[in-house]
Amino acid sequence: MPNWTIEQQRVIQSDTKELICSAAAGSGKTAVLVERIVRLLREGAEPSSFLVITFTNPAASEMKERIRSKLMDERDHPMIRYALDQMESMQISTIHSFCQQLIRNQFQLIGIDPKFTVCDEAIGKKLFHEAFTDACEKLKDTEEYHLLKKRFEADKTEQMVTDLNSFLMSLPDPFGWMRRMVDGIPVQPDPDHPWYQTLRKMTEEKLTLVQITLNRMEKMLAHPDAVESVREIWKKDVELFHVKQKEVSSSQIPVGKCDFKTFSTPRDLSDGQKEWKEKYLSLRNRFKEQMNEIVALVNMEENTPDEWKNMQESLCAFSKLTEKTNELFCQSKMNRALVDFSDMEQYAVKILSDPACRAQAQSLWRYVFVDECQDISAIQNRIIELLQCDDNHLFMVGDVKQSIYRFRLADPLLFWIGSGKLTGRIIRNRNVFICRPIFAPEMKFWRRRILFSGILCGRVSPNWIIQREKN
Ligand SMILES: Nc1ncnc2c1ncn2[C@@H]1O[C@H](COP(=O)(O)OP(=O)(O)OP(=O)(O)O)[C@@H](O)[C@H]1O
Ligand SMILES: [Mg+2]
Repeated sequence: MPNWTIEQQRVIQSDTKELICSAAAGSGKTAVLVERIVRLLREGAEPSSFLVITFTNPAASEMKERIRSKLMDERDHPMIRYALDQMESMQISTIHSFCQQLIRNQFQLIGIDPKFTVCDEAIGKKLFHEAFTDACEKLKDTEEYHLLKKRFEADKTEQMVTDLNSFLMSLPDPFGWMRRMVDGIPVQPDPDHPWYQTLRKMTEEKLTLVQITLNRMEKMLAHPDAVESVREIWKKDVELFHVKQKEVSSSQIPVGKCDFKTFSTPRDLSDGQKEWKEKYLSLRNRFKEQMNEIVALVNMEENTPDEWKNMQESLCAFSKLTEKTNELFCQSKMNRALVDFSDMEQYAVKILSDPACRAQAQSLWRYVFVDECQDISAIQNRIIELLQCDDNHLFMVGDVKQSIYRFRLADPLLFWIGSGKLTGRIIRNRNVFICRPIFAPEMKFWRRRILFSGILCGRVSPNWIIQREKN
């Protein structure tokens, strides 16, 4: 048995019902989670009331093994012996297996065949394409459809609908959220509007990154192989940075374009200097990219009320087409008794939103544990939230720095907010953990033909809505 640190002990022993623990990689988070489970079992908690959630199948198997092995170490204890006998009744699984089980138990509520199978990715793609085609056919006489046809190429439209749909499926109330966002688009440029404020916040964060790049460039200048004349260019870069920083912070809209000083060095460089120059140049390119991104984010000078209206129309039309496609896609999967990963989550939320089902689930799973919770998405967070009530215990561990599933739209921001960045911090108010997506349009290169890009959850940037306006 390890010598638990004081912090670990506090977390293992704490009676607080909602506890979230953030700590670095390999610092013993899972070990603490397992130990906390063992402690509760030792104290007589019923094994069948445990739900332990992981995010991959190997992680679930490992979790089972770790719990079993810990229990084996103490098998002389009567409660532990009982727990070992009953271990099968503990629900230790991925969140998707858990959702599947929930759906099988409550299939009537969803109206699905209880013998459903998991939808193969290729089949899913094919059915989605069919649903998209059907949706276009059904909406072909609507204004929105004409608008999309006029403004976008057909295959791009399909790609955007696909991306938008998969992003929306990571949210608990996908189309409600989308409607709120579309309705929230300001009708004309307005620096006080939350959209602008969000943009400004994103910009400020990006400015911090630029500062880091500039510092690294300065460090490089101290190298023996540094080309001395480059220092002057660096000084100009720093000046430019300060100008832009000031423009952004003075809520000055628009922020003008970046005028970078041309990079030139003497011809007769030594090999060492040549190597240094290559490295420095790649860092400077990063600096330029970051600065251009900032300008693109806040550069509103080409925005007119007409263009805002254009964007709202396009978004509205996309939203409608995506909703129809999704409806037909769901119907088509339902007819074939197929369920994909998004359905599992969406259906689980639906089931747990039913008062009777929720009460039943809450009384069954008294102890909910989540490992690697930095990987959680908004909808998964909702599922866990729905399992909570005053009598239940929730324990989550994770490390926000390790988020491997960003690309699957997990929202580490949720965890970040929830954890208050502190190890073992006790959350008194679960409200802080509620997803509050921020709708941030990145209006890059407005006139340069990219119509709109990025409607994002805070810092998470799913690659959707990057679309060229049809010529
Ligand atoms: N206080 C401790 N003393 C000695 N060993 C410890 C202590 N705490 C944890 N360990 C050991 O450190 C190793 C890593 O622990 P664990 O897997 O729980 O870390 P983790 O934080 O979950 O890692 P990851 O970030 O990879 O999920 C394990 O072998 C565990 O038994
Ligand atoms: Mg771990």
